[in-house]
Amino acid sequence: MRLHYLTLYTFSVFAMSQTNTLKYPVLGKLSAAQFLKQYWQKKPLLIRKAFNPFPDVISPDELAGMCCDPQIESRLILERGGKSPWELRKGPFKPSMFKKLPKTHWTFLVNGVDRFVPGVHDLLDQFSFIPFWRIDDVMMSYAVDQGNVGAHVDNYDVFLVQVAGQREWKIEDKAMVGDDFVANLPIRLLKRFKPTQTWVLEPGDMLYLPPRFAHHGIAQGTDCVTMSVGFRAPSIADLVNSVSSAALSRVDENERYTDPDLPLQHPGAITSKTLEKVRGLVEKQIFNPESFSDWFGRFVTESYSDVEFPPPRKPLPSATVKKLLKSATLIARVEGARLAFIQDSPRAIRLFANGDVLQLEGDAAELGKILASRISLPATLLQPFSGAVSISLLGELFARGILAAVP
Ligand code: SIN
Ligand code: CO
Repeated sequence: MRLHYLTLYTFSVFAMSQTNTLKYPVLGKLSAAQFLKQYWQKKPLLIRKAFNPFPDVISPDELAGMCCDPQIESRLILERGGKSPWELRKGPFKPSMFKKLPKTHWTFLVNGVDRFVPGVHDLLDQFSFIPFWRIDDVMMSYAVDQGNVGAHVDNYDVFLVQVAGQREWKIEDKAMVGDDFVANLPIRLLKRFKPTQTWVLEPGDMLYLPPRFAHHGIAQGTDCVTMSVGFRAPSIADLVNSVSSAALSRVDENERYTDPDLPLQHPGAITSKTLEKVRGLVEKQIFNPESFSDWFGRFVTESYSDVEFPPPRKPLPSATVKKLLKSATLIARVEGARLAFIQDSPRAIRLFANGDVLQLEGDAAELGKILASRISLPATLLQPFSGAVSISLLGELFARGILAAVP
């Protein structure tokens, strides 16, 4: 079910200048600025009734259905009752499998639920105090009584939201250094876990954990559904790999190292002058400001491998776009689509859409920024953008399946 979250907001895309006082309902009494300063990447935070109530966006049955879909990544973890303790099974599963499971101690987890369920995708707007490009995905789990995935650490920030039922969370109050896992298990469980805090989360409650804070959540009673909004923290290795491949695709094979100014020097020496020259050549390819920002914008908006977008086709005609803006309630970013922008000058941006880039100026640039600010937007907010370039931008994004009109 797709919900109209707009009423929940005190946030307006036009009020970006008041960033210090911006309030997000999920953060309770804290402003977004306070959360970022005091908690983000620093310490855990429990927020009771962050969602009050949690909206009816997906049922346990629908979640179980997703486990049977070969396009979707899912896992089943049986602490007890499997072939061995902590048995891990990977989806897709047959629906009949669920009937054969024991009464307690198992859970299934579905990755990337936001890429498939519009109502869950819309929930990401509630977390937009963190830039969208930092979001990885929404994972959802369903557990019967005592179902859990063991004590573990994640390498990324996570908001753990209780959707239904109760879960007891135990956490350590310091980030873990080093890795010490139980040997010979299919999942990475901590050998030592000394929780310092325990809470039982009720529907709508939310626990924020920075990277590497050990945690263990155990379902209390059946029908326990938890949503994890996980953030992407690209490894330095991934960044270096991607930036150098992007540079490689640009360099001219015929361009070579040259040294017409070569002085007479020790034949065995690599001089600091030589190193400076080589560094300059490499830097020019990788850190040229325009190509570097172009690479990063494309890198972080590249679409996910499990979501397919329509092949390139002609932008929607302007009359059709105008009709859609009039008839739709919402204009929504399609599940799995990624948008971000880089401001190049006060009136110009580069809008990155699923790894492609569009140069925009003036009103079209304003429109691009609004589109990148939210997953779902009231159509009335976009109606004033009636200029030819703005309409053709919308026509292109509709045609690419990045935006959709919601009646
Ligand atoms: C769960 O939903 O059971 C586990 C989520 C997590 O610990 O990251
Ligand atoms: Co975790």
